Amino acid sequence: MRARSYRWLHSKGVAKILVTGGAGYIGSHTRYFLEKSGHTTVVLDSLERGDARAVPAGMLRQVDLRDAAKVRQVLQEEKFDAVIHFAAYMSVGESTERPELYFINNVSGSLNLFDAMLKTGVKSLVFSSTAAAYGIPTKVPITEDLPFAPINPYGESKVMVEKILGWLDRFREFRSVRLRYFNACGAEPASGLGERHDPETHLIPLVLRAVQTGNPVKVFGDDYPTPDGTCIRDYIHVSDLAEAHIVAVEHLLKGGVSDVFNVGTGSGCSVKEVLSAVEQVTGKMVPRTIGPRREGDPPSLVADSTKLQKTLGWKPKRAELHGIVRDAWEFAQKG
Ligand SMILES: NC(=O)c1ccc[n+]([C@@H]2O[C@H](COP(=O)([O-])OP(=O)(O)OC[C@H]3O[C@@H](n4cnc5c(N)ncnc54)[C@H](O)[C@@H]3O)[C@@H](O)[C@H]2O)c1
Repeated sequence: MRARSYRWLHSKGVAKILVTGGAGYIGSHTRYFLEKSGHTTVVLDSLERGDARAVPAGMLRQVDLRDAAKVRQVLQEEKFDAVIHFAAYMSVGESTERPELYFINNVSGSLNLFDAMLKTGVKSLVFSSTAAAYGIPTKVPITEDLPFAPINPYGESKVMVEKILGWLDRFREFRSVRLRYFNACGAEPASGLGERHDPETHLIPLVLRAVQTGNPVKVFGDDYPTPDGTCIRDYIHVSDLAEAHIVAVEHLLKGGVSDVFNVGTGSGCSVKEVLSAVEQVTGKMVPRTIGPRREGDPPSLVADSTKLQKTLGWKPKRAELHGIVRDAWEFAQKG
């Protein structure tokens, strides 16, 4: 076991953790759960796509990962035990329009972070990867051993970082847990946090907005080879996702080895099932238009998360779709 984890274990079992992208949706929830678990956190975020209100006063270092010198300065000034790295661009559509943005931000930004970590002796990292790494999977539910097959620059940027982490593990004793998330959704009611992307591309907030504004939500294709013809996705509650990060970072802090895990519920819901859950929760009709399929949308993406459950003892506790929609609706009504 290495000195760093020894220090962690023999303190009160708590650590000081840097959360990049902690002003964003998943990062802010994870920061909230880390604090609840007794850990100390600092958020590094440019606020370009995040919300300063999601970070408690005094916890934010407003820095862009593309500014290598400033990133290094933050890591030199604060002594971190580990880093959880969320900061990235994440719009598939935008990544096909301007791929270079995704490689500069998601890959170069990550390299600046890893370089600063190596220079300051921080060698434990949890990385936000994605189901997009699998592209159009050859089997569903998806297990971690399926090959990388991204079909857009966003997915490719995450695969590139995953590969870099593999080399850093092999030659620099830099340990990482790569978490491949499926569709993050919902909100933690007690935290006041929620999903607020601009522009929003995720289904549940878009459907809730359609209910609120009366402007129809677009359904992309109802002729897929699925029971009701619409796409099936694995909707994972953001609080369950946040808890996966806690078990992952604690695994590394205890000296655990590098690994990769899918994070999902293991069961999928179709677009029509989401619309119907929203109608039941809100008591309102969802205005909708049915359009053609969107290029590159696989019919079904469902995670097999058995490995995460067996290895780190994580379990999704909030997998029921109506509960997820209720939490998202509560947040959406706050405006
Ligand atoms: N939301 C999902 O369903 C989903 C699914 C799979 C993977 N992911 C990954 O999870 C991570 C977080 O997703 P999210 O939904 O919370 O996104 P988000 O856009 O809400 O949060 C990302 C945060 O990173 C910050 N950021 C971006 N580039 C930065 C830079 N160069 N320097 C500093 N800060 C920067 C943004 O300002 C923002 O606060 C991303 O890496 C994303 O690719 C998300």
